[in-house]
Amino acid sequence: MTRARIIGVGAYAPKRVLSNADLEKMVATSDEWIVQRTGIRERRIADDTEATSDLAIKAAQQALERANLVPEDIEFIAVGTTTPDMVFPSVGNIVQHRLGCRRAGSVDLMAACAGSVYSLVTGAQFIQTGKYKRVLCIGAETLSKITDFTDRGTCILLADAAGAVVLEATEEDRGIIDVDLYSDGQYWELLYMPGGGSRHPATAETVAQRMHYAKMKGNEVFKVAVRMFVECAEKILSRNGFTAADVSLFIPHQANLRIIEAASKRVNLPMDRVFVNVDRYGNTGAASIYVALEEALAAGRIKRGDLILMAAFGGGFAWGAVLMRW
Ligand code: UT7
Repeated sequence: MTRARIIGVGAYAPKRVLSNADLEKMVATSDEWIVQRTGIRERRIADDTEATSDLAIKAAQQALERANLVPEDIEFIAVGTTTPDMVFPSVGNIVQHRLGCRRAGSVDLMAACAGSVYSLVTGAQFIQTGKYKRVLCIGAETLSKITDFTDRGTCILLADAAGAVVLEATEEDRGIIDVDLYSDGQYWELLYMPGGGSRHPATAETVAQRMHYAKMKGNEVFKVAVRMFVECAEKILSRNGFTAADVSLFIPHQANLRIIEAASKRVNLPMDRVFVNVDRYGNTGAASIYVALEEALAAGRIKRGDLILMAAFGGGFAWGAVLMRW
C-alpha cells in the first residue's frame, strides 16, 4: 500500500516581534490578561514588503533542502492560506514560479486555520492514488494584514508565519495512516472577513466600515473548537485501533493554550505529549501545525516509529485530523 511520508520540513516567521507589552500601547489590554486567557507572550508580524508568498517560499526552500530535493522534483503544490498575496493568482502559483517547480501544478486551499490539515491531506491524496511521487504542502499566512489593530479581541491572537513539508510516496509501513476533514458552514458568522469578496467588493465604503478585517466572536468559537478537536481526535484514533496512550506527540493547531489544554485533557493526552509554541507565535492560521512540526523535530521530540496526531480547527467552520507514523 502506497503511503505519503514527510521527508522534509521547513518553517519561517518574519523577524519583527510584537510583544504583549507592545499591544498594551495599542489597545486596552494587559500582558497578564493575554497570557492568562491565551498563553500568548509574543508573535511575529510581517513588514510592509512581505506578503504571504514571501514567507511560503522561505519555508518551502528549507523543506526542499532538508528533503535533498530540487524544485523540479515537485509534481504538485498545495497551499493552505486565507491571506493570499492577492485574490488571484494563487500563492501556489507564485511559489511554483519563484521556486522553479517547473513540473508542478498548484492550488490554494482556503480553510482558515484548518488550512494546514486541508493542504496536507490534499497533497497526500495525490500520492496515495499513485498520481504523484513528490508533493509540496505549505501553510502560510500574513494574518496581521487582515487584523484590526484597534480590536483587542483579535489583534492579540493573530500573527504571521509559514511552514512547509515535502511528501514522498513510500511502500514502507510509515507515513500518513489516516485523515479526516470536516466542515460546518452554519457557524460562518462567528469568524469571517466581510469585505473584499463578491458579496462586498472593496469600496471606499467597505474600507471605512473596516470590513477588510477579520471579525470573531471568540468566546463562541472557543466552545465549538474544543468540542470538535476532541471529537475528531477520538474518532481517528479509535477507527484505527489506537487510544490516546499510543500517541507519542499531539500537534494541535496553536490558537489558544486554553483550547489546547482543554481538548488534550478530554482526549486523555497529558501535556508532556502535546506540542505547544503558541506562546511565541500566537495564532498563525494555516501555518501553525507546520511550524509546530518543524520545531518539534528540531527539539528532538519526534523519532522514527512515533505515532503523531495532528488536528486543526478554524473559521468556516472547517476542521480535521491527520494520523501518521513517523
Ligand atoms: O484559530 C481558530 C479560531 N480562533 C480561535 O480558536 C480563538 C478562540 N477564542 C479565544 O481564543 C478566546 O475566546 C479569546 C482569547 C478571543 C477571548 O478570551 P475569552 O476568555 O473567551 O474572553 P471573552 O471574549 O469571554 O471576554 C471576557 C472579557 C470581556 O469583558 P467583559 O464583557 O467581561 O467586561 C472582554 O471584553 O474580556 C474582555 N476582553 C479583553 N480584555 C483585555 C476581550 N479581549 C480582551 C483583551 N484584553 N485583549
